[in-house]
Amino acid sequence: MSLDIVILAAGQGTRMRSALPKVLHPVADKPMLGHVIDTARSLQPQSIQVVIGHGADKVRERLAADDLNFVIQAEQLGTGHAVAQALPQLSADTVLILYGDVPLIETATLQRLLALVSDDRLGLLTVELADPTGYGRIVRDGNGVVQAIVEHKDASEAQRQIREGNTGILAVPGKRLADWLGRLSNSNAQGEYYLTDVIAMAVADGLTVATERAADEMEVLGANDRIQLAQLECHYQQRLARRLMAQGVTLRDPHRFDVRGQVSVGRDVTIDINVILEGKVVIEDFVSIGPNCVIKDSVLRKGAIVKANSHLDGAEMGEGADCGPFARLRPGTKLGAKAHVGNFVELKNAVLGEGAKAGHLSYLGDAEIGARTNIGAGTITCNYDGANKFRTVLGEDVFIGSNSALVAPVTLGDRATTGAGSVVTSDVPADTLAVGRAKQRNIEGWKRPTKK
Ligand code: UD1
Ligand code: CA
Repeated sequence: MSLDIVILAAGQGTRMRSALPKVLHPVADKPMLGHVIDTARSLQPQSIQVVIGHGADKVRERLAADDLNFVIQAEQLGTGHAVAQALPQLSADTVLILYGDVPLIETATLQRLLALVSDDRLGLLTVELADPTGYGRIVRDGNGVVQAIVEHKDASEAQRQIREGNTGILAVPGKRLADWLGRLSNSNAQGEYYLTDVIAMAVADGLTVATERAADEMEVLGANDRIQLAQLECHYQQRLARRLMAQGVTLRDPHRFDVRGQVSVGRDVTIDINVILEGKVVIEDFVSIGPNCVIKDSVLRKGAIVKANSHLDGAEMGEGADCGPFARLRPGTKLGAKAHVGNFVELKNAVLGEGAKAGHLSYLGDAEIGARTNIGAGTITCNYDGANKFRTVLGEDVFIGSNSALVAPVTLGDRATTGAGSVVTSDVPADTLAVGRAKQRNIEGWKRPTKK
């Protein structure tokens, strides 16, 4: 059965009070509409039509992709009118309607809904609400058969007692849609062409309307203001946290854990509080992440340990490597197996070999550091002359004395040593000690100045 999906995203979203079109407001760093598009893709439709209007250029610019077709609805005359704008593009057996501001709808729910649809049957997703104010109500006859949807503003007092609300998400036989939409009228309380009027038309034409209940109200909740947006964010995070825990991750507090991207996690991973994972993060088995860490686009191999307050971006930690507390691993950082990075150490575009150590207060940029090499406290690579960047290359088992300045480009051979406080400006051969500092002299009997 072929499928076209129409996503309505033309509305203004006044209550966001924002220069950004409503559907671009993010949940977990991704525009709400982006979530809906990804869910739509998961159903493998033959086409995805995105109906845009307010902020159309910004929406298109942000989300354009080969498998999307954008349709302009110049004036927002109602949800029925919005779907009608996409009609010329539709040809599938089934048409599914989704909403750009209802981002948490899940693939499994939509699959259940689509399973209901046939040539003479519609599938309608409804939700039981404690307070259905504002929602269209599902009107059923004495046998419980769906007859119509009545919008809140058009509903009688008796109809307003109905707590079964319309989520708006609807799947219909494609052949019928043009006829029904062509017959919509806007003589109603809001003067709009209601998509919901299609239900009564379908019933009059002898079709049945099968319903599916959303398991969870949040799944079908739209965000009209930033309060609802925050609720969706919270729900999204909780849902993800539960999934990760089910996969074998210990979250010390699932309420203080945020994923803003795609994460793959192994087993027996422990994540302490206030950890934020961004972009694409891969976490293998037995990794432990301390509190207050931000980890973006990084790979943590088996058993890696990230201690409190560390910040990783574009980094890879090898098996059993550890960093922090207060480590900063910037793009291009690669720690070998069992490598150790301690507090207040910053690495950028730097490779630390297996078992190498930088324990305290260092900056290592554009550097290649061999296995088991030890970087003393306060060491920095002077990789930038104000115009260009240069590399520092250290061999294996090198020992860099504390407070050394390695002025790149510079290469130190295996087992080389530098004296503490050295400014190293030229290469050091293997097995050699370099001392690049003023020689100490002692002045005997020297008297300190005294106050006059
Ligand atoms: C709609 C439903 C209502 C349902 C509710 C669920 C209709 C007539 N009513 O009401 O039964 O309970 O959603 O939230 O469908 N849109 C356009 N173009 C338009 C009008 C709307 O793209 O011309 C988009 C909006 O951006 C929004 C969505 O469609 O994303 C829903 O529109 P809105 O006006 O908010 O409908 P509701 O009054 O909430
Ligand atoms: Ca709405």
